[in-house]
Amino acid sequence: MGSSRSMLFFINLAIIILNLVAPTIAQDDGMCTEKAEYCWKCSNTGTYTAGDKYQENLSSLLSSFSSNTQNNSGFYNSSRGQDSNKVNAIALCRGDLSQDSCQACLNKSTDILLQNCSTQKEAIIWAEPCMVRY
Ligand SMILES: *[C@@H]1O[C@H](CO)[C@@H](O)[C@H](O)[C@H]1NC(C)=O
Ligand SMILES: *[C@@H]1O[C@H](CO)[C@@H](O)[C@H](O)[C@H]1NC(C)=O
Ligand SMILES: *[C@@H]1O[C@H](CO)[C@@H](O)[C@H](O)[C@H]1NC(C)=O
Ligand SMILES: *[C@@H]1O[C@H](CO)[C@@H](O)[C@H](O)[C@H]1NC(C)=O
Ligand SMILES: *[C@@H]1O[C@H](CO)[C@@H](O)[C@H](O)[C@H]1NC(C)=O
Repeated sequence: MGSSRSMLFFINLAIIILNLVAPTIAQDDGMCTEKAEYCWKCSNTGTYTAGDKYQENLSSLLSSFSSNTQNNSGFYNSSRGQDSNKVNAIALCRGDLSQDSCQACLNKSTDILLQNCSTQKEAIIWAEPCMVRY
């Protein structure tokens, strides 16, 4: 009796500990890659569909960030389109990053967002070297 009780206690303790550790992967307020190099959140403020103008403007705006070779400040703030198809996006790289590392982080981050938030009009991603929001 006593030993099955203490067994139950340890099982419960294990469940509690697992619940405390697990949320680093999936939290109510976002998702992270396995080692949490990238964490993102898709907002449910509106959706777009594949092939519509919003998507075209969004992907062209984001690839202008990650292929940009002029602005080496590491800060991007730009818009595309009109009315309900208007996309606003900002991106920021850590100040000490080279242009190449900044572009690489923006490229990876925007790929993750476009795949994982593939219908949401609003999304944000944080990585240690950069962040992107639209
Ligand atoms: C990221 O880079 C790859 C390879 O160069 C390219 O195919 C992809 O379109 C880029 N993604 C963005 C969002 O620019
Ligand atoms: C780069 O900087 C110029 C001048 O500040 C700005 O007009 C342009 O929109 C920027 N491009 C991007 C992709 O942010
Ligand atoms: C981005 O640009 C828009 C339009 O110029 C401006 O209203 C907004 O405050 C800017 N955002 C940031 C974070 O600088
Ligand atoms: C937004 O996307 C539409 C549809 O592709 C295109 O006609 C329009 O030129 C885009 N706007 C900008 C500012 O790129
Ligand atoms: C998020 O996107 C990446 C690729 O950019 C993909 O490998 C990963 O499986 C996606 N994660 C989820 C939860 O969909």
